[in-house]
Amino acid sequence: IPVDPFDLVVFGATGDLARRKILPGLYRRFVAGQIPETSRIIGSARTEMDDQGFRAFVAEAIAEFIDAKKRDAESIARFLDHLRYVSVDAKGDSGWPELAALIRPDVVQAYYFSVAPSLFGDLAERLHRHGIASPEARIVVEKPFGRDLETAKALNATLAAHFAESQIYRIDHYLGKETVQNLMAVRFANILFEPLWNARHVDHVQITVSETVGVGGRGAYYDKSGAMRDMVQNHLMQLLCLIAMEAPYRFDPDAVRDEKLKVIHALQPVAPEDIVRGQYRAGGPGGNGSSYVEDVDHRDSRTESYIALKVDIANWRWKGTPFYLRTGKKLRARASEIAVVFKEVPHSIFGDEEGWRENVLAIRLQPNEGMTLSVMIKEPGPGGMRLTEVPLDMSFAEALGEDGADIPDAYERLIMDVIRGNQTLFMRGDEVEAAWAWTDPIIAAWEARGDRPKAYDPGSSGPEDALMLLHRDGRRWREIR
Ligand code: BG6
Repeated sequence: IPVDPFDLVVFGATGDLARRKILPGLYRRFVAGQIPETSRIIGSARTEMDDQGFRAFVAEAIAEFIDAKKRDAESIARFLDHLRYVSVDAKGDSGWPELAALIRPDVVQAYYFSVAPSLFGDLAERLHRHGIASPEARIVVEKPFGRDLETAKALNATLAAHFAESQIYRIDHYLGKETVQNLMAVRFANILFEPLWNARHVDHVQITVSETVGVGGRGAYYDKSGAMRDMVQNHLMQLLCLIAMEAPYRFDPDAVRDEKLKVIHALQPVAPEDIVRGQYRAGGPGGNGSSYVEDVDHRDSRTESYIALKVDIANWRWKGTPFYLRTGKKLRARASEIAVVFKEVPHSIFGDEEGWRENVLAIRLQPNEGMTLSVMIKEPGPGGMRLTEVPLDMSFAEALGEDGADIPDAYERLIMDVIRGNQTLFMRGDEVEAAWAWTDPIIAAWEARGDRPKAYDPGSSGPEDALMLLHRDGRRWREIR
């Protein structure tokens, strides 16, 4: 379904995120027929360039990031026709009148701030000073949204000086992932799970985001953040909220975000013994991988590239059911999943079955998006009543056929939601602040103690101590595959 005609300005259009995600994503939406003929995508950055130069830049990005089977010269040429470029100085006045002349007041306006947060205020202020942004214009901002509560509040205040909350779209790209949205569909469009979805029946929840990549070229940023700020405060927190929240009264932006906020407020402080931080050392498969401290070029760094923690949600639904979270870089596999592990049956009529396992609902975010519900059945054959575990497996790609395999990237979905004016999958200002309010004391405590992260081998499943976090509770992590 096409959206309304729009002018989308991408500030930071020559940057990495625009090149890898935003611009190729817009091309895919164009191919899908979602971008109206009269819409325009206006690249903007400090670099001096004309429309043709920008089109060549975008053509290269498409060639690099879109599979050859999913692009063709004809549609690329038509897509490039929608592109314009204006060079602006975020901190000065040059370029702004040109941008103002280009923007149409009578179409949907969206301004994507794909720039360092330190420039948010400058951009917001100039969009106003030059009379560019219409009263309904939307702005899109990327993470990191602050590095603690104080900086997040300051950012919110900066944006609020020029835009209403209903105009601000704070991206957490995990919310745009297909399976993450499906989580809400599964929970709230089926009667099956709700009666079991509480501390009485759920033993614990595991949320894993395991990456094989290291810190890449982002060492300078990452070393000041670490896994807690980079992943837990936002992505894992959002996943936790969607699992734990009450049913919103409607699938409406504020109704959904109100429920998520209540979950964040119910999160308890985390005790030091419930946290394991890790940092990858040199080695790994082949033995020649670089260490974290080499990658970030900071020999004494105490920043964690891995974190596991046990989180307690103090409300009626979840009190007593721990949520175990873990995420890290240079691990064995790229695998992200949420596993809801149910309790044992109250009494086994089959005696002490060796093969007995709990029911687990596993929601795979990537790769191979899908869900698996593991159930116990009788092992086939005449061997008597022996139990075995089988997965009720649903791969979205298989279940939805050819088209299902073509699951849109998170950014595609989210940018289209901006144009539609739907904030459901974006973080509200108070949510971000509440998430930092929970995160800050945890970080402050380990900094005050001067804790050093535990070393782990690249290609492993993280530091040994992380296993203990569950072992001592009589539980085990699911295997990362
Ligand atoms: C980003 C983090 O927000 O998410 C990165 O800053 C991380 O460190 C990335 O690698 C993971 O995203 P995805 O979509 O590849 O799981």
